[in-house]
Amino acid sequence: MTLKRVLSGVQPTGDIHIGNWLGAIRNWVELQQTHETFVCVVDLHAITTPHDPKSLYKSSLSTAALYIACGMDPNKCSIFIQSQIPAHTELCWILNCLTPLNWMERMIQFKEKAIKQGENVSIGLLDYPVLMAADILLYDADLVPVGEDQKQHLELARDIASQRVNSKFGTKNNPILRVPKPLILKECAKVMSLTDGTKKMSKSDPNENSRISLLDHPDVISKKIKRAKTDSEIGLEYGNFSRPEADNLLSIYSIISGLGKEKAALNCREMGWGTFKPEFTDAMINILTPIQKQYNELMNDKGELNRVLEKGKNTAQEVSHVTLNRVKEALGFYTSS
Ligand code: TRP
Repeated sequence: MTLKRVLSGVQPTGDIHIGNWLGAIRNWVELQQTHETFVCVVDLHAITTPHDPKSLYKSSLSTAALYIACGMDPNKCSIFIQSQIPAHTELCWILNCLTPLNWMERMIQFKEKAIKQGENVSIGLLDYPVLMAADILLYDADLVPVGEDQKQHLELARDIASQRVNSKFGTKNNPILRVPKPLILKECAKVMSLTDGTKKMSKSDPNENSRISLLDHPDVISKKIKRAKTDSEIGLEYGNFSRPEADNLLSIYSIISGLGKEKAALNCREMGWGTFKPEFTDAMINILTPIQKQYNELMNDKGELNRVLEKGKNTAQEVSHVTLNRVKEALGFYTSS
C-alpha cells in the first residue's frame, strides 16, 4: 500500500509565531507518522512583497531549523527549500497560462495585501496562489494541512487541477494531476492577535506584542502575555462573540497545557485573568523551551541542517520531476526523458 502524501509550507518572513505553529506546523508532526510528508520553506512566496536579501537568507535556514525543532523528523519526512527545486517555477508558468485572470483577482488575501501595498503591487503577489498550487500539485499531495486563511488558495489549486488540467488534457481514467484536499483542524486553525481578539495573529502586524514568536525569550513571552488584551469578566469561555480574547486565549491554552478543549474550559471556568495569565505564561514557556533549545543547537552547527536540506532537496527533485514531465507531455511539450 502506498502512503498518502502530505505537502505544506510556511513563508520564511520574520519570526514564526505560535499562530503558524498551532495552525499548521503542529499538525504536520502527527501526519508524518502515517503519511509521506513534504514540508517546504516557501522562499519564492516571500519575495511577493518587498524583501531584504539578508533576512531572506537567514529566515530560510531558521525556518527549516524550526520545522525540525517543532518535531519534524528528517528521517520520516522531506524538508526542503522551495527555490532549490526549479520545477515549482516551471509548473507555475504552465499553470499561469491555464488559469483565468479573474480567478486570481477575487482572492481575498491578494485583495487585502494589495490594499496594504498601495501602488506597489507586483505581478508575483497576484500570482502567489498559482505558485502555491504548483507547490502542492507537483507532489501529488492528497492532503494539505493549512490554517483557515488558506482555504481559498486550496480551492484554487483544486480547480486548476481538475478544471484546467485534468478535464482539458487528461482522460477520466488517467488524470494528470491529483486533486488535493485541505486539512484544516478545528482547534486553533486560526490564532488571533494578543492585542485584538478579532484580528488574526500576523507576522506583518507592526505591534510585536500582538504575537508570540517561537523564539521569544521567556521574559519577552511573560511581558507580552501580561500586556495581552482581556476583558472585565471573570472566567474564560469559548465562543462568546462579545469576548473574542477569552475564546482565543483559552483555545491556545487548551493546546499548550496539554489539557484539551473540555478540561481547559472546566479548569478556567471561574478563573480570573489574574490567575489565568501566569498559568498561561508557564504553559507557554514550558512548551517553547525545548523547541528553542533544539533550534539553537541546529543553528550553532549548520552541518546537520545542511545535510537535512540536501536530502530533502534530492527527494523533492525526484518526485517533482516525474509530475512536471507528466504535465509537459500531456500538454505537448517535447520531453526527452
Ligand atoms: N500560502 C501559505 C501560507 O501563507 C504558504 C504556502 C505556500 C503553502 N505554498 C504552500 C502552504 C503549499 C501549503 C502548501 O500559509
